[in-house]
Amino acid sequence: MTTLDVRTLPKHVAITMDGNGRWAEQRGRQRIVGHRAGSQTVRRIVRAARRLGLEQLTLYAFSEQNWGRPQDEVEGLMALLQDFLLSEREDILNNNIRLRGVGNLSKLPEHVREVMTSVAQASQHNGGMVLSLALSYGGREEIVEAARSLARQAAAGALRPEAIDEEAVRALLPSLEYGEPDLMIRTGGEQRISNFLLWGSAYSELYFSDVLWPDYSVEDFYAALGAFQGRQRRFGLVPTGPDVVMPSVEAPLRRGVSPGSSPCQTPLSGS
Ligand code: FPP
Repeated sequence: MTTLDVRTLPKHVAITMDGNGRWAEQRGRQRIVGHRAGSQTVRRIVRAARRLGLEQLTLYAFSEQNWGRPQDEVEGLMALLQDFLLSEREDILNNNIRLRGVGNLSKLPEHVREVMTSVAQASQHNGGMVLSLALSYGGREEIVEAARSLARQAAAGALRPEAIDEEAVRALLPSLEYGEPDLMIRTGGEQRISNFLLWGSAYSELYFSDVLWPDYSVEDFYAALGAFQGRQRRFGLVPTGPDVVMPSVEAPLRRGVSPGSSPCQTPLSGS
């Protein structure tokens, strides 16, 4: 069993939920069966994260590149997303979770976009945990969009090119609106970033688990958090002593998210 120090938990955890397809194939089932089992893991891990009082959880639910998968798999995933949002709506609201989507949401089918917008709007003033679903998301695409926006401002004479700095770019990346990920977990045995949070991961701690996402347990999640607590973050600097305080790469919290408002309002059911 993992023992965690609640004072030094990561504020923002991002997860690449990999391994659904292999989980299904190992059982001779269609890939969508793995995604369905994976959506149960999403429920478990969201509850665990909320119970721990994490400020942010970002889940890589559908990449921009995933549109290239077979149509039946894409449609199945979209239906699962809709089911998830409909069935979790009450728990999200009751537990003070703010849900939002990041990515090219305009590409989502209307039935998913509608429920996403509805839950996002209903939960927009919740300050307990920001749950971001990366949907139709790509890290490169997000940076390109920011570059386009800066270029437009410069072309309109509203921005001097010399005034473009890291902060100007970061401020235009929706995935980092509430801060950069402290810990990025990838399940399923692969060790790559796969176009997830490219800018934001600059100083994230990376943690890879061999467990396929449908089998990923709350205890596995705690193990990742425990490993994070054993890491020393240096942000490119040199530690000068045991009490060295490293600068935070956190962006200031915005839009009414208060860091201290983490305890659950309602006990979360299930594990
Ligand atoms: C990667 O596994 C996973 C995905 C592309 C989709 C993730 C979706 C879910 C966990 C379920 C729905 C999401 C929510 C938020 C309810 P893979 O298919 O690439 O697995 P493989 O590497 O074994 O083929």
